Amino acid sequence: MIDEIIAVAREAGAQAMKYFRHNALMNVANKLNDSDIVTDADKESERIITSYIRSHHPSHAILSEESGSTEGDAEWRWVIDPIDGTSNFFAGLPLWAISIGVEHHGERKYGVVYLPATGEMFHAVRGEGAFLNGKPIHVSPQDKLSRSLISTGFPVDKDTNPDNNMDNLARILPRVRDIRRLGSAATDICYVAAGFLEGYWEMNLHEWDVCAALLILEEAQGRWTRFRDDRCISVVCGSPVIHDALLHFLRPA
Ligand code: IPD
Ligand code: CA
Ligand code: CA
Repeated sequence: MIDEIIAVAREAGAQAMKYFRHNALMNVANKLNDSDIVTDADKESERIITSYIRSHHPSHAILSEESGSTEGDAEWRWVIDPIDGTSNFFAGLPLWAISIGVEHHGERKYGVVYLPATGEMFHAVRGEGAFLNGKPIHVSPQDKLSRSLISTGFPVDKDTNPDNNMDNLARILPRVRDIRRLGSAATDICYVAAGFLEGYWEMNLHEWDVCAALLILEEAQGRWTRFRDDRCISVVCGSPVIHDALLHFLRPA
């Protein structure tokens, strides 16, 4: 099954690459506000992945960002972000990913996060480790927060809701080597899994942003926690040591 998921992610990624840095070819529309956009490429990537599932696994349930949920049997569910990091994609920045997680009886079993513009293919199967382009990955051994590179993100309602992560940022920024805002939650988490970043936190995410990447992180010996439950999915990730250090500074609900 993991080979199938990797193949369909590559196909969706190849289609999205036809639009990348060719903005005249695609329509773009706002969802919640000017910070929340969807393009033709998001829709085409989603169509490729969901048509594959419907023709090869018609009984499986699907949750996908742009089209919502499709009922299926209780055994298998695919959780899909057809492009995670659409703002980067539309700006011509390379950090955006196709994210496909597959749950079996509610437990994450397979995860694929593919960055077509960088050629990075992350995958994991529960119990079998995590891989980047076929090579095993592991979280960073760094145990000092002051030497750690940490990423975060800001919620899409940051313009109207003062609970916009600036308080956490103010507490954490002085204590770490530096902060990044990559713009793709699935990429942030996979980069923690690969040891490129020591840690990451963000609030107000959705299942499709994190499903595949959190399995990849677990299989790379990382740790994650939902640090509050009032703002959709709010997660902190890292190696066990850095995860614990960050958690200490994050404001609970
Ligand atoms: C977004 C990205 C971004 C995060 C947002 C997500 P999208 O996903 O992961 O990094 O800050 O919360 O919604 O909209 O590009 O799929
Ligand atoms: Ca997303
Ligand atoms: Ca998306």
